[in-house]
Amino acid sequence: MKLMPQEIISHKRDGLALSQAEVEQFVSGVVSGDFKDYQSSALLMAILLNGMTPEETGWLTEAMMRSGRIVELPEITRPKVDKHSTGGVGDKVSLILAPLVAACGLCVPMMSGRGLGHTGGTLDKLEAIPGFRTDLTDAEYRAQLALLHQAMIGQSADIVPADRKLYALRDVTGTVESIPLICSSILSKKMAEGIDSLVLDVKCGLGAFMKTESEARQLAESLVAISARMGKPTSAILTRMDEPLGHMIGNSLEVIESIDCLKGKGPSDLMEVTYALSAEMLILGGIESTQEGAMTALKGAINSGAALEGFRALVEAQGGDGTVVDNYNYLPRTGKTKDILLDNDSSMYVQGLDARSFGDAACILGAGRVSTDSIIDPSVGIELLKKVGQAVQPNEAIARIHYQGVDALEAAEARLEKAIKLSSKKPVSSSLIIDQISHENY
Ligand code: URA
Repeated sequence: MKLMPQEIISHKRDGLALSQAEVEQFVSGVVSGDFKDYQSSALLMAILLNGMTPEETGWLTEAMMRSGRIVELPEITRPKVDKHSTGGVGDKVSLILAPLVAACGLCVPMMSGRGLGHTGGTLDKLEAIPGFRTDLTDAEYRAQLALLHQAMIGQSADIVPADRKLYALRDVTGTVESIPLICSSILSKKMAEGIDSLVLDVKCGLGAFMKTESEARQLAESLVAISARMGKPTSAILTRMDEPLGHMIGNSLEVIESIDCLKGKGPSDLMEVTYALSAEMLILGGIESTQEGAMTALKGAINSGAALEGFRALVEAQGGDGTVVDNYNYLPRTGKTKDILLDNDSSMYVQGLDARSFGDAACILGAGRVSTDSIIDPSVGIELLKKVGQAVQPNEAIARIHYQGVDALEAAEARLEKAIKLSSKKPVSSSLIIDQISHENY
C-alpha cells in the first residue's frame, strides 16, 4: 500500500523504523517530485534526529543507488578499486593515489565530487590544469580505463539523481551530519561506479565533518557494514584531520604538491596517508597479500617514475597539458603572496594549525565556494611553511597566502592569525593513522 509522504514522515518522527517499501517510496518520490522539497527536508531532519537501523540505512543506500544509471565495466579485466575520503583540508591524496595504484596493477574508475563547505574537491583541483576535462563521455571514460587503467571524472547527472537532490537539501537544512545520510550518500554513488571493492579514508578532527574519533569510528563501521551487505568488500582507515594534510591548500598549489609526491618529494604526512590507503587498495584488489609487499610495490612505482608518467598520461588523455608535470608555470598562479608571521619574540613550536580555519580562509581567497554560484579561482591558496611540531624563530613566517584581491587577503589573514597556535613546549606528535576497520570483520 502506498502511503502519503506525511505518513512516512510521522513514522520516522515518532522513532519507528521505516519499512523497505517506505524507504523506496521516499527515494522514488524525491526523484519524481511526489515528495516535495519541504516533505523531504522534514523526513531528513527526522532521520537526523532519530537515526536509522542498519537495515534502513542499507535499503536507503540501495534505493538511492538504483535511482539512476548503474555503471558496469565487464570489459575491464583488472581489479576495479576506488578510494573515497569523507573530506578534509589539503587532501589531494586522490591525485597521487590513482596513478600510483594503476602503475601497480589496479584499475581506478574514480568518480569524484567538488569541494563541499570548507573541504576541497578533487574535480576542482584537476580543473586547475589548463584544458583538463572531468566530463568525459561514457565511451571516452571506458576507452581510457581500458588503456590507462585510471580515469578521474565527475558524476554525470544520471548517476544517483536522488543524492543530487537530497544533498542540496541537506546542505541548506542542517541535515548533513547524520551517519545514515552520509553513509547512503557516499556509498550509493561509489557502488554505482562499477567497482569491485573500495577503500575509505574516514577523517576525524578539527577539519573533518566528524569531529571526534568515536563519531568517525561509528561512521566507518557503518560504511564498512553497508558495503559488505552490498557484496563489495570495503575497508575504512581512520585518519586525523586536525591540521591540513601536506603543505599546500588551493587548487593549483595542490596539483603542484601532488606532482612533487609522484616525483618522490612529497611531505611525510601526505605520503603516510597516501601509502596507507594505496596499500589497502592493492590488498583488497588481490595484487598484494601483505602490507610489506604492497609498500615495496608502491615505493617502486614512485622510484621508477611509473606513477609520475601515469599521471602525465592521465592529464593528456583528459585534455590537459602534460607539460605541467615538468613545468609548474603552466598552472595558474597569482604572483602575489603575503607571509603570515606571529609576534613571537623567542623560539617557539607550532602547536596547532586549525584545519577548519585554513579551509575557510582558502574558500574566502577563492579556492572554494562560499555560495553555490561561486567561481573557483585555481591560482589562490595557502602554503604552510611550518607544520605542527616545527620550531618557529622570531620573524620567521609560518604560512604564505597566495591571493588576488586585497579584501579577501585581509579576511583570510585575520582567520589564519587565530588558527595558528604556538607553544614554548614541543607538542607530542600523534600518528595520523588512527585505526583500520576491515571488511573481514563484517
Ligand atoms: N560526501 C558525500 O558524498 N556525502 C555526504 O553526505 C558527505 C560527504
